Amino acid sequence: MLDWVENDTSSASTDTAQNASPASHDVGATDHVHTADATGLGDIDRGAARVTVSDKAMINSRADVNQLLPLKYGWAWEKYLAGCNNHWMPTEVSMQADIALWKSRDGLTEDERRMLKRNLGFFAASESLVANNIVLAIYRHLTNPECRQYLLRQAFEEAVHSHTFQYIVESLGLDEGELFNMYREVPSITEKAAWALRYTKHLDDPDFATGTPERDQDFLRDLVAFYVIFEGMWFYTGFAQILSLGRRNKMVGIAEQYQYILRDESIHLNFGIDVINQIKAENPHLWTAGFQDEIRGMIREAAELEAAYGRDTMPNGFLGLNAALCEQYMHFIANRRCGQLGLTPVFAEVENPFPWMSEAMDLKKEKNFFETRVIEYQNGGALSWD
Ligand SMILES: [Fe+2]
Ligand SMILES: [Fe+2]
Repeated sequence: MLDWVENDTSSASTDTAQNASPASHDVGATDHVHTADATGLGDIDRGAARVTVSDKAMINSRADVNQLLPLKYGWAWEKYLAGCNNHWMPTEVSMQADIALWKSRDGLTEDERRMLKRNLGFFAASESLVANNIVLAIYRHLTNPECRQYLLRQAFEEAVHSHTFQYIVESLGLDEGELFNMYREVPSITEKAAWALRYTKHLDDPDFATGTPERDQDFLRDLVAFYVIFEGMWFYTGFAQILSLGRRNKMVGIAEQYQYILRDESIHLNFGIDVINQIKAENPHLWTAGFQDEIRGMIREAAELEAAYGRDTMPNGFLGLNAALCEQYMHFIANRRCGQLGLTPVFAEVENPFPWMSEAMDLKKEKNFFETRVIEYQNGGALSWD
């Protein structure tokens, strides 16, 4: 059982149905939607009535997206606040031990080096793919200001994550081209990126707009591909690989950075799940049996791609970690994601092979380092700026 990482924000999912506003998707609504109002950058509707909560909706909203208040979706605002409270920067983590280990001849085995480099290469490009999807595809079509507020926070966090890989490359003296271009050179990484891009490509087409069941389902597929699969499945085996090294006291700086990334990503994932469930609640006609099967098929395919990545990055395996265990972990996580989306599991029930992940993730049990820093940030408003 994963503890807070899986559960801390999921309470929001339970109140989504109460906020549902089925009336927001009547046929008349779509007439008004696809004016420039959906972006918030259209002509000002002078003298228009004030926004009420019942006007607001996740997609195809007719309410002014430039007005954050009144809030409708408390879970989105809570996640924005949680993200802000988790602020961190990669440069605050010492890389001295990692540098010494990386440079020592026998500090890491060849298998560990291969896994580490490919893991870093996977994340280095993935952070950017995820960020571009948020900014260029999702933001535009999510017509709710409190969700957009969270997306803006998330976009910054993805920038911090990209910064982490820049900092690691610089600290260890890695070949930056090798790492950042890996998603175009290493097939097991390319396949995952290419798979996800299929679902975002057409959304950044300037002519794409939600408002028909087909287009709204396209948008849902993109949310599943990026939030549930990219961030919610593939990232998790990536975290397990590095945290497994960290548990054996290897590359402890990178492992600590991955803990912070994981904490951020667990909120990204839970935000995505809440967004999808809220859209479902407001637009039940989109969540057909056929569509559910399709989503389950996506999750199954994604787990297979991850298994191939596991075999490629860990051809021999090492202490406590190998491709077979990672595949089992992916099945466990895939079933968990199905449950969060209200889908039947895609795999036979399996044990979590990495029960230590929940402890490794639990920063609240960590040394004072983190708490001290949180206090510093929360006092940031008192700083003198001159
Ligand atoms: Fe990220
Ligand atoms: Fe993320």
